[in-house]
Amino acid sequence: MFFIIPLLITLYSSLFTSSSQANALSKGLSISVDHEHDNLVSLNGLFTAGFYKVGINAYCFSIWFTEPHAKHENPTVVWMANRDIPVNGKHSKLSLHDDGNLVLEDADHSIVWSTETKSTNGSLNLKLEDTGNLVLHQLNGVPGMLWQSFDYPTDTLLHDQLFTKDSQLVSSRSTSNFSSGFFRLYFENNNILSLLYNGPEITSVYWPPPYMKTWEAGRSTFNSSRIAKLDSEGKFNSSDDFGFFVSDFGIRRNRIMKLDSDGNIRVYSLVDQKGRKKWEVQWQAFSSPCKIHGVCGPNSLCTYSQEHGRKCECVHGYKKKNQSDWAYGCEPKFKPCEQGEKDYIELHHVEFYGYDMRFLQNRTLEACKQDCLNDCNCKGFQFKFDTNFYNCYLKNLLYNGYQLGFEHSIYIKLPQNLVSSFQQALVNEIESNSSCPTHIIMPIPRSYERKHENGSLKVLRWFGMVIGVLEILLILIFIYISHKDSATSAKSYYPIASGFKRFTYAELKTATSNFKEEIGRGGAGVVYKGKLSDDRIAAIKVLKEVNHQGEVVFQAEISTIGRLNHMNLIETLGYCIEGKHRLVVYEYMENGSLATSLNSNKLNWGKKFDIAIGTAKGLAYLHEECLEWVLHCDVKPHNILLDADYNPKLADFGLSKLFDRGGNETSSFSRIRGTRGYMAPEWVFNLPITSKVDVYSYGVVILEMITGKSPVLQMVQLGGDSGRDQTLVEWVREKIREHIGSQNGTWIGEIVDSRTSGEYDKGMLINLVKVALQCAEEDRDARPSMSQVVNILLHPGSHDSHDMNEASVSSIYNKVSP
Ligand SMILES: *[C@@H]1O[C@H](CO)[C@@H](O)[C@H](O)[C@H]1NC(C)=O
Ligand SMILES: *[C@@H]1O[C@H](CO)[C@@H](O)[C@H](O)[C@H]1NC(C)=O
Ligand SMILES: *[C@@H]1O[C@H](CO)[C@@H](O)[C@H](O)[C@H]1NC(C)=O
Ligand SMILES: *[C@@H]1O[C@H](CO)[C@@H](O)[C@H](O)[C@H]1NC(C)=O
Ligand SMILES: *[C@@H]1O[C@H](CO)[C@@H](O)[C@H](O)[C@H]1NC(C)=O
Ligand SMILES: *[C@@H]1O[C@H](CO)[C@@H](O)[C@H](O)[C@H]1NC(C)=O
Ligand SMILES: *[C@@H]1O[C@H](CO)[C@@H](O)[C@H](O)[C@H]1NC(C)=O
Repeated sequence: MFFIIPLLITLYSSLFTSSSQANALSKGLSISVDHEHDNLVSLNGLFTAGFYKVGINAYCFSIWFTEPHAKHENPTVVWMANRDIPVNGKHSKLSLHDDGNLVLEDADHSIVWSTETKSTNGSLNLKLEDTGNLVLHQLNGVPGMLWQSFDYPTDTLLHDQLFTKDSQLVSSRSTSNFSSGFFRLYFENNNILSLLYNGPEITSVYWPPPYMKTWEAGRSTFNSSRIAKLDSEGKFNSSDDFGFFVSDFGIRRNRIMKLDSDGNIRVYSLVDQKGRKKWEVQWQAFSSPCKIHGVCGPNSLCTYSQEHGRKCECVHGYKKKNQSDWAYGCEPKFKPCEQGEKDYIELHHVEFYGYDMRFLQNRTLEACKQDCLNDCNCKGFQFKFDTNFYNCYLKNLLYNGYQLGFEHSIYIKLPQNLVSSFQQALVNEIESNSSCPTHIIMPIPRSYERKHENGSLKVLRWFGMVIGVLEILLILIFIYISHKDSATSAKSYYPIASGFKRFTYAELKTATSNFKEEIGRGGAGVVYKGKLSDDRIAAIKVLKEVNHQGEVVFQAEISTIGRLNHMNLIETLGYCIEGKHRLVVYEYMENGSLATSLNSNKLNWGKKFDIAIGTAKGLAYLHEECLEWVLHCDVKPHNILLDADYNPKLADFGLSKLFDRGGNETSSFSRIRGTRGYMAPEWVFNLPITSKVDVYSYGVVILEMITGKSPVLQMVQLGGDSGRDQTLVEWVREKIREHIGSQNGTWIGEIVDSRTSGEYDKGMLINLVKVALQCAEEDRDARPSMSQVVNILLHPGSHDSHDMNEASVSSIYNKVSP
């Protein structure tokens, strides 16, 4: 008897549910939440469909990558049927009914989700395909597909999954909460693939950027087919002409395109890093996440740093509305329309996008202040210099605040008492403790009623409730304590919140053991290696001759530099200003400068390509996010540093500005700004200096990497003359010209550095030489911008260089006068 009952139960359950680890489910069968291994697995083993735990006793029917990318990590979910209504962990099941409907039932038999398909007489089969698509097939009668999960994506697209006018991606609420969030990717009525923030209070389209015309954003409204797809190699193409190539272009099994909970779309690939697998970003729509609308809710300010990621803070005078959720933003601590003295606080470099109630042209600051004071709906105004006069933009809502717009200031209207409590701290200390809120997983209560319950169940239920209440109390106490901590550590409002610190001279002296180990030397000063008190290794630069500069100016400028955050810019950790000492503290780069690596031949072709692209990205960021004065002006291999993985990072940007104040303008220009061989002709001919000077230097650096020669080749005999130095650019052009006649000329073989190891892709190399020569044009208008360079390098095939043979480069070269 004892053996027979379990046997019967097993028989019973195997009859009425699918056997585990199948790849298909047929009519009349179901998958139950009660059996952990009751899943569908695709034939290639890559994907699994089954019940996925999203909370305590809460499950969603999902598809995920079978293998978790790391031990003890949850697997990566790519689709969910019932993300907003999780089902109970007992007695819930997904069944393929006899009428052809695929139905997800909760424990109380309520239908939570269904495909609403019908097929009364044919035989059916629900199959998880190798692509990750869950498909309901009709096998006989009229064979065909009745339903597929690819038509109803959640927040993820797999490769070759068609995104159509009927599809949309909706972000998750947070990284741990899979229910529908506020961001949406869809085809707008004008045929443009768009991103929308659809928050509790406002909605706005934020991609393509709303201040751009569609054609400026490279989009077209003409094609109404509204389809888009990421193909198996990693090319994305949409019918509105938007497209990109991922940076690891090529066939990969594990690649997803996801609308993340922060409103950014990213393409990830699973990469193996020293035995550790992780999802790595291969493309993203936004590099400055604060420009995504709605991220911090109303009345709050978004800041971003590489180290701490994105952060939200209430504007001074406002407090957080919902402690657990930034989407609700902040609310005023005062009554906006109450009588009483009002004044303004000024936040530098801050912009709040949109919601202008009025625009006043050519006004003084006083006039704007008065106008806003007269209107109780006015929350503040943006005061901005446009071409030749100041304008002000009065705001009735403070939304989309971020801290990247350099020339902007916003004036926030507050009652007098709150204005006087405002401290404008230019640079703040690291707030390490308040920046990472601890993760709290709240149980999702999924209750279900049993009509007839007996006495002992009732007792159990009461017991459970008591435990539950105790648990909730504990959680509340925990939240209270952790909130109290963070409230005390963030006492005052800091307009600049980056991991940026002011050091004392004594601290840095200790860190460098009295400036013992010199690791570099340049125009701006000497660099020493040091160890900070938190054990981080840093590069500490002692600036020389920074005269004529008040502390405030130095601080303001250094904090601007410190706010620039990009993976291809060196991170500024802090600074020191004390007496005549001016020091800047940078992150330490293990592999030194590109100059030393080139000299010692450490780089193979693969690394050289990566360095070319990374450097271009860093410069493109500098040129696009900043004003002209953050031009680098001294791009050369000594200023391109390499981290442990040989990722390039630009150093020394922004510093040139610190030097040309006060002193003799012209002489300090040629002395400090630029290095012989890398300098654009504009310097010599005294033409206006624009970002194109960096483009020129970049071109020279690339040629130097390819040829292994220095930018100025000395003493070339020119017809028996005493000799004139030839530039590297001239030399490369000459080599190409020599081979113009011969169709299959091999100039590329002649110019490449034969000491560099590794194979190179000839097409890519030719593309690189071509870009470098364009960058090094004499005429600055003929040079591409840095973002164009990034584009050409990342998508070699998509531009005018379809036939990337040597002849095409020669023809390009021919168009240009020597
Ligand atoms: C299924 O039903 C349809 C009409 O409802 C009929 O046309 C078809 O022949 C039937 N197929 C089979 C296999 O019975
Ligand atoms: C997820 O977010 C939704 C919507 O805000 C909320 O109702 C739900 O309780 C959250 N779930 C968890 C597990 O926090
Ligand atoms: C519209 O876009 C689709 C997909 O990109 C393409 O196949 C089709 O030819 C386009 N139609 C027109 C009229 O350009
Ligand atoms: C997308 O497709 C169109 C035509 O189908 C093509 O002209 C365009 O170059 C493609 N974009 C990318 C990035 O491949
Ligand atoms: C705060 O946000 C959470 C999660 O979105 C929500 O469940 C809760 O109701 C909100 N509280 C208030 C007071 O709005
Ligand atoms: C701006 O206003 C001032 C004073 O009202 C006036 O003198 C000036 O001409 C105006 N500038 C422009 C460009 O309209
Ligand atoms: C962070 O918290 C730890 C312990 O809770 C404390 O020792 C440390 O001093 C704090 N750091 C800062 C910067 O407040």
